[in-house]
Amino acid sequence: MSATDRFRLDGRSIVVTGAAGGIGRTTCRHLATLGARVVAADRDESVRGVADALSAEGLSADWIAFDVADPASVNAARDEILSRHGAVDGLFANAGMAYERPGAEHTDDDWRRVMGVNLDGVFWTIRAFAAGMLERGRGAVVATSSIAGVKAVRPELHVGYDVSKAGVAHMARVLGVEWARRGVRVNAIGPGYTDTVMLAEVGISQPDVMARWMDDQPIGRLVSPDEIAATVGFLLSDASSGITAQLLMVDGGYSAA
Ligand SMILES: NC(=O)c1ccc[n+]([C@@H]2O[C@H](COP(=O)([O-])OP(=O)(O)OC[C@H]3O[C@@H](n4cnc5c(N)ncnc54)[C@H](O)[C@@H]3O)[C@@H](O)[C@H]2O)c1
Repeated sequence: MSATDRFRLDGRSIVVTGAAGGIGRTTCRHLATLGARVVAADRDESVRGVADALSAEGLSADWIAFDVADPASVNAARDEILSRHGAVDGLFANAGMAYERPGAEHTDDDWRRVMGVNLDGVFWTIRAFAAGMLERGRGAVVATSSIAGVKAVRPELHVGYDVSKAGVAHMARVLGVEWARRGVRVNAIGPGYTDTVMLAEVGISQPDVMARWMDDQPIGRLVSPDEIAATVGFLLSDASSGITAQLLMVDGGYSAA
């Protein structure tokens, strides 16, 4: 295999959750361009448009709507995807939600909702899709953590989000080690402040918040969804065959500063 072939994903079926959103949509395009058969998944049915746009360009893309927070919905989607595609070789467990709330003001529902999507949802999704990979002895999983999973980010407040993202990084570490000799790699990525709709929910539209982020941000700009997508493509490809159980920050140096 040539040096560049190791980065290719030709013929691999890869499921991407949160595919209607900024990072997921861009990653679907990147993976399809590398030759993957992408299944774009989201709770939001507008995800169909993501797959349709790729298919119109001659790339391989399918779509499905399901709720990662509901294990029955996840398992039903897995069965449907397997019936259409035969097997799943890769998973980008990326669906997530954000919000703002001071710690002491979190309601029971705030806490359960964010854990339900960002932590439980990632686990239900990995559990569902990794089963077939483990049976076949090959596969790769990437899950989306965050700078908020390794550092108390400021000035926005959302302890539930932060703890859920720390949990995702540890989930990848533990499952990566557990499955290392069974041919299935599991890694997490840690995006920094990335230019998507989600960022609007936690302050991108407020000039003082943006100024604070940029002060703290070594590269002095937001991370782009393309930069996240390229990292996910690498971690799902054979180019990263020696990497498992890691959290790879894609944050322009934010977590190190
Ligand atoms: N944008 C950032 O700055 C940033 C930074 C660090 C981490 N992240 C993480 O990156 C991931 C992608 O975020 P994004 O920036 O593309 O945000 P986004 O809001 O554009 O996309 C998130 C997507 O997840 C989907 N989703 C939410 N709940 C779901 C559920 N229960 N079931 C299925 N789909 C669901 C939404 O419909 C949406 O399409 C998230 O996990 C987020 O926490 C984002």
